[in-house]
Amino acid sequence: VTYTVGTIVGSIASTSINRKLARALAELAPQAGLELRDIPIAELPHYSADYDADYPESGKALKASIESVDAVLIVTPEYNRSIPGVLKNAIDWASRPWGTNSFAGKPSAVIGASIGAIGTAVAQQHLRSILSFAASPELAQPEAYIHFTEGLVDDEGNVTNPGTEQFLIDWLKAFAAHVEKHAA
Ligand code: FNR
Repeated sequence: VTYTVGTIVGSIASTSINRKLARALAELAPQAGLELRDIPIAELPHYSADYDADYPESGKALKASIESVDAVLIVTPEYNRSIPGVLKNAIDWASRPWGTNSFAGKPSAVIGASIGAIGTAVAQQHLRSILSFAASPELAQPEAYIHFTEGLVDDEGNVTNPGTEQFLIDWLKAFAAHVEKHAA
């Protein structure tokens, strides 16, 4: 069985290392029985409850994308020891209007890349709190904090460090098992 996974990248930077990590994960995912597809967040306006009565197309598209996949993967940088505002904004959009939370019951996993050695651990912890409130069953273990060094992912999306590549494959397999458990 192949499960479909919507990938949300928490950075909209053109040079994003987390985008590169997401690309690498998409290439490796079939080895774990997962098919990754991108869920874009860059076009979303700033969320406000004023939109609840009449959601814009971008908000509706985000919710429909999440609802159409078996699970959600969030690949995020750490900004000031938390998650980027664009990512929080996207989650706020997906969680509303009240009573239509697109994350409810949707399995998820978080991973992140940083140029710093302990990078994304604090951001991921914040993200777990948010996903927990959003009633999304998260993959608890293994955790994945990727220390991103120059050239770790090449232009074709290949992971150049064999140890890291194997770690990511094993992590994706654990995510697939988590999705399977919640799909049942
Ligand atoms: C950072 N960076 C960063 N890194 C980290 O490990 N912990 C942190 O708290 C922060 N804070 C932070 C704030 C802001 C506003 C920026 C722009 C950057 C560095 C960050 O890890 C680095 O810029 C990554 O390249 C960001 O990921 P993307 O956007 O390249 O995917």
